[in-house]
Amino acid sequence: MASISINSAAELLRPPQDGMPYVRANRAGEFTTEAGDLAISDGLLTSFEADAGAAVQIDASDCAVLPGFVDCHTHLPFAGWRADEYNLKVTGASYEQIAQAGGGIKSSAISLEAASDDEVIAQAEALAAEMLEHGTTTFETKSGYGMSVDGELRALGLAARLGESVVQRIASTALLAHALPSGYDVDGWMAEVALMAAQVADEKSASALDIYVESVAFDNEQLRKMGELAKQHGFDLRAHVEQFNANRSVPVALEVGARSVDHLACLHPDDLEPLAQSECAAVLLPGAEFLGEEDVAPGRALADAGAITVIATDANPGTSPIVSMPLIIGLAVRRYGWTALEALVAATLNPAWLLRCSDTTGSLELGKRADVVVLDGPVANIAYRFGHNPVAVVISDGEVVHVRADWEDRVSGER
Ligand code: NIG
Ligand code: FE
Repeated sequence: MASISINSAAELLRPPQDGMPYVRANRAGEFTTEAGDLAISDGLLTSFEADAGAAVQIDASDCAVLPGFVDCHTHLPFAGWRADEYNLKVTGASYEQIAQAGGGIKSSAISLEAASDDEVIAQAEALAAEMLEHGTTTFETKSGYGMSVDGELRALGLAARLGESVVQRIASTALLAHALPSGYDVDGWMAEVALMAAQVADEKSASALDIYVESVAFDNEQLRKMGELAKQHGFDLRAHVEQFNANRSVPVALEVGARSVDHLACLHPDDLEPLAQSECAAVLLPGAEFLGEEDVAPGRALADAGAITVIATDANPGTSPIVSMPLIIGLAVRRYGWTALEALVAATLNPAWLLRCSDTTGSLELGKRADVVVLDGPVANIAYRFGHNPVAVVISDGEVVHVRADWEDRVSGER
């Protein structure tokens, strides 16, 4: 493994102090972006001084150096796309109307069933490669388009296979209650979910359970049940809540010890403070909000109240066919009124905590794994040059895994 020296960076993103598992958003301003150097050897961050003897030298002058992005909410692996629905959506159909007409999650379930394992993996690998070029060095996968016992278990198997073949580290979530499969009533499906949860725990094919609470999906009673299953089998609980309606799912999620509540576009104002005080991540998905013309989650208020704020792509064929974390950062900054530092902690250390890997990645600290991104300009440009991919170099686990074509001259030595 080649040693690497990243030299003369104009900005090096550093946490307020070492060893913090997460940083609440009201302390994001304590991150620093001083100029500096960073040396890497044996896959780890080893020094904040340049290493003239390192095999690879990277000239980062005028540019920012960040930890790799952690995309903690995606729906990879899935099959095909749903561009036709986007057309219906922008011309006025609601998500619920599309779902009731047989579109939505069910249509992706049909596509997944029809696709071969190799086809699903090929699509997901291509997306993972695109994510890598946008600086994502760790991401989450989810089942949820299986929509039958066999289908869900297959999806988890495909996620594990994906984890073997992509550069990034993955964390697998079993979204066992996404939409009600045909042939089941809610109780009947939840009985299957209980059996699957036990099997998934045995096989260790996921570390978290997830549920979609919405008028077109499941309700708070099943959320509570999923929380009990998570506790029983040692999973983290995550939940898709308050996306299109305020279902008051957050108090239930907090009661059952959820590690994250995701979406929150329709978060009830009374639930904001308890969430912000809790040790449960508030995962905001500004891509889904923007493309679905959803309400805007109260990102500013959550940050001011000191929540463990997180942003993610929600990459999926329905609500958010987005894989770029820089784009998500740009949306979060504009729509929530966040500073660049607020967006960055929500895209790096906090999602790493959510996925239980902030002891090894998510911030530039000596001894952590060398998951590093070099941008082509300062931090402020990520949001400002909206739509531009600012990621010039990506280092994953101590290896240079991506150099943008126009940056070849800035990276010298034997990779
Ligand atoms: O996170 N809202 C539920 N699940 C996904 C969308 C799934 C789909 O439409 O395929 C989401 O937005
Ligand atoms: Fe989602």
